[in-house]
Amino acid sequence: MKIKLEQLKKEAIGKLDDFLALVEKTPQEAQEKFRELEQQFLGRKGKLAILLKDLKDLGEDVRKESGEFANNIKKDLEGRFGEVFAKIKIAEPTDASIDVTLPGTKKELGSLHPVTIIQKEIEDLFSSIGFMILDGPELESDYFNFEALNVAPHHPARDMQDTFYLDKKNENGEYDLLMRTQTSPMQVRAMKKYGAPLRAIIPGRCFRSEATDSRHEHTFYQLEGIMIDKKINFSHMKGIMDLVGKRLYGEDTGLKMRPKFYPFVEPGSNGEYTCFLCGGKGCRVCKNTGWLEIVGCGLIHPEVLLAGGIDPEEYSGFAFGFGLNRLVMLKYGIDDIRLFNGGDIRFLEQF
Ligand code: DAH
Repeated sequence: MKIKLEQLKKEAIGKLDDFLALVEKTPQEAQEKFRELEQQFLGRKGKLAILLKDLKDLGEDVRKESGEFANNIKKDLEGRFGEVFAKIKIAEPTDASIDVTLPGTKKELGSLHPVTIIQKEIEDLFSSIGFMILDGPELESDYFNFEALNVAPHHPARDMQDTFYLDKKNENGEYDLLMRTQTSPMQVRAMKKYGAPLRAIIPGRCFRSEATDSRHEHTFYQLEGIMIDKKINFSHMKGIMDLVGKRLYGEDTGLKMRPKFYPFVEPGSNGEYTCFLCGGKGCRVCKNTGWLEIVGCGLIHPEVLLAGGIDPEEYSGFAFGFGLNRLVMLKYGIDDIRLFNGGDIRFLEQF
């Protein structure tokens, strides 16, 4: 009996050793074969079970001894089968199972463009004080972009704003379509549509025929603002400009207004804010002046009110225009305006 049991053990171990080679080569097939082998030796009708049936024919002493011996062999074999089964599990291809404890695949998230971030900040401020937020056409007529804004066809101010003209006639058969050079044409459009009193801001994309460099770009963003009511004067405008400066650069920000000519306002002004970097002491960003030129503004010219169908004897108002790209460049220390439209993911990912 003992000899038969020893032989059985040897046979089973031999088969398991052969089997291990299969595990490395084809792990999936090995799993099926393993169950067969296990049944063959340790199953209810397996070789060991058949041998143990003979135990009952033995004399009592021998039966007890052989029984113990058989039990040890059984435990031994079960141990060996267990080890081999563990190896099959390790060799299994990974797609056959899902390990729920592994970290998931990270999804790439987009982010807002820096111009959008600042635009939203300013929109928040103005909508909180009762301004509408309007949108306007990028393809404009010469009339709204220039003439209605008091810039006659041969006015020298047009030189500063050369743009892209369309080789297409308008409905009156005239060549007067162009890519807007500023958001200001929306002043007259808004007046015509909503009349007075009026409070609106208009963010948007503008175009100029520029030789591009780090400070000039053919496509850029502005944010226009307009407020019209009875008895609006310069101090209202100053108050609003001051509010924007403090919101953008902090409570200690000062505002300085210098006269500047814009054909559609009278008087026109250039708003400068205390440099946020040096606090007015003078540095690289403000070119040692302590001030940053940020906004063009002024009291709306009576001709422009008239073009918008508003009586300048009854109403007055102010308008302003921010260069959004410039605001963003100053805020984030960006030194090349071409990065905004460059589509370089490495630039955009930083915001
Ligand atoms: N549109 C002007 C520009 O592009 C900026 C500007 C100046 C807008 C004065 C205004 C204003 O509304 O009042 O240079």
